[in-house]
Amino acid sequence: MDTNRIQNLKNQAISSILESKSENELEQIRIEYLGRNGEITKLLSLLPSLKPEKRKERGILLNETKKTIEEAIKNQSSIINHQSSTIDSGWFDITMPGIKPIKGHLHLVTQAIKEITFLFEKIGFNRVAYPEVEWDWYAFEGLNMPKNHPARDEWETFFVQDLFHPKYGAAVLTPHTSSGQLREMERLGQPPIRMLNIAKCYRRQIDASHIPMFYQFEGLVIDQEINITHLKGTLDYFVKQYFGPKKETRIRPFHFQFTEPSFEVDVTCVVCGGKGCKVCKQGWMELGGAGMVHPHVLKNGGIDPLKYTGFAFGWGVERTMMMKDKIDDIRLLFGSDLRFLQQF
Ligand code: PHE
Repeated sequence: MDTNRIQNLKNQAISSILESKSENELEQIRIEYLGRNGEITKLLSLLPSLKPEKRKERGILLNETKKTIEEAIKNQSSIINHQSSTIDSGWFDITMPGIKPIKGHLHLVTQAIKEITFLFEKIGFNRVAYPEVEWDWYAFEGLNMPKNHPARDEWETFFVQDLFHPKYGAAVLTPHTSSGQLREMERLGQPPIRMLNIAKCYRRQIDASHIPMFYQFEGLVIDQEINITHLKGTLDYFVKQYFGPKKETRIRPFHFQFTEPSFEVDVTCVVCGGKGCKVCKQGWMELGGAGMVHPHVLKNGGIDPLKYTGFAFGWGVERTMMMKDKIDDIRLLFGSDLRFLQQF
């Protein structure tokens, strides 16, 4: 008899009670949960067989559940009676509080994408979206990762069978939003560029923090005299707006083929506020990659690297959002379990 099961029974009972429209239906629900052979009654009868420590805790929970269900039935019954009496007597009290219709909401990943877009648009970024099925050139080769380069292994790519471009190579499911960098340079031709590319990305991976399809958001800024302080300032702005004013960012040296220098960006741990805890160890949590656009990449995008410089960053939407909302398993986001989704 675990607490989850009791919780689930309670949720089920309450939602059927709220949906019921007659005294008859309500009575059926009462019998189903609280009747002589009802679900809750059955669990109550099992209490004596539990170990004493558990018995007390489960007993309290079960009795509270029973009380909640009884009260919900009473409330619903008065709503049903009131409705039928007002209809019967032909008058209607417009000052009576109404019955709230059940409202849905946007999926939490969609909410996060909206919020991220809003924050970057506010400082002049331009939201774009580029193809999910992409050519090798844009995803790898043009980003300074020649064929057979070991760095490509990191991206655990899905290849599309029998689709090949004579100039741009094999077709892949885009493994990161960095492929949008070259496309944006081509589209605009000349700086200034302030791109925010948010798109689905695909990699062969699945565990508590990885799924085969996920979202990334990628920023790219190219202009004259863009330097690391602009990158750091932009990251600080985003992190403070998104996670809260007390959060700091830290950039650590790293390696990507398409940025030089490259960094990994950390943010003050959202659990302990930077003191150091079980989750973060030293007070920082890792957000994702960033760096100054590599001159080869600028050249491949048709931009003169002697005249222009730029920065880029690319992070997972789900990862960023999960950090803020303290969700520890990415698979929950796409499981369509209403009990989870309704909490947001
Ligand atoms: N594309 C990189 C990744 O998927 C992240 C990144 C983006 C790094 C832009 C540097 C600059 O891991």
